[in-house]
Amino acid sequence: MSEISVANEKKIKLIVNRIHNLPTPPTVFAQVNKVISNPNTSAYQIGAIIAEDPALSAKILKLTNSAFYGLSRTVTSVKQAIVILGLDVVKSLVLSASVFETFSKRNIIDKDFLDQFWRHSLLVAFMSRIISRTKNFPSFLEAEESFSAGLLHDIGKLVILTHLPDEFARIKSLREKNLEVATSAIEEEVLGFDHAAVGGYLCQKWNLPEHLTRSIQLHHTPQENLENITTQIIHVSDYLAWKSQETELSDSNYSLTIPLCEQSWSMLGLNIGQQEQLIQLLLTEYMKAETFIKMAQGD
Ligand SMILES: [Fe+2]
Ligand SMILES: [Fe+2]
Repeated sequence: MSEISVANEKKIKLIVNRIHNLPTPPTVFAQVNKVISNPNTSAYQIGAIIAEDPALSAKILKLTNSAFYGLSRTVTSVKQAIVILGLDVVKSLVLSASVFETFSKRNIIDKDFLDQFWRHSLLVAFMSRIISRTKNFPSFLEAEESFSAGLLHDIGKLVILTHLPDEFARIKSLREKNLEVATSAIEEEVLGFDHAAVGGYLCQKWNLPEHLTRSIQLHHTPQENLENITTQIIHVSDYLAWKSQETELSDSNYSLTIPLCEQSWSMLGLNIGQQEQLIQLLLTEYMKAETFIKMAQGD
């Protein structure tokens, strides 16, 4: 067992004891995840697996043809999407569509929370992809992994909302009364673990790559995971996403409690003085993301 899993063992046990029936990995996603790691898998095989789920296929095609990818012609099959966008992009689309599907089916009463949750998660996903691309980290694959990690980084909050609704309500009300205290600290107090631990655990259950799982587990404490560049990207993107939302949230109960880890910034070759410029890039990119937003909201 690795060092991290030992450190989290206690938390994970608590989660197992208290959260039953964690959302299962969407079947198609699990299958795609399995075969995609085989280098001999063809676009045809992946396309065939995805085609077994018509609703998911339709969502993937909708995202592929959205303004975000700016394709000059309409893509009509998942196989074609794989050929044009590449396997890694389609894999991240399968994950996005599957996650939206998994959580939209649940009867989530707090619609305002849900809207804000997806807006924030998508902002972090887009920011992460921008940073990965502009900094030219090892490969395009890294950019897609960053996007997925960004999208899922706070997924533990949705698990708490759907599986421990009473505790969720308590955390929310305590946070509103103590704006200077970070949500994670309140979760620790109420539950004994925070949303990052729950999210990491869910990703483990879904067999997502360890690198990605750890970036979610440690997005609030990136200094504990300096060898993992995705963790640093998610941490910085989380901060920038909240910063970009500051004006719109200024009327509501809101305060930015995410600590600024300067080490993360320097590891990415960025400095805090560039934040305005990065936020501008994010807002421009986000304008093209309407299809993602609508799908996240269940349309
Ligand atoms: Fe978080
Ligand atoms: Fe966040």
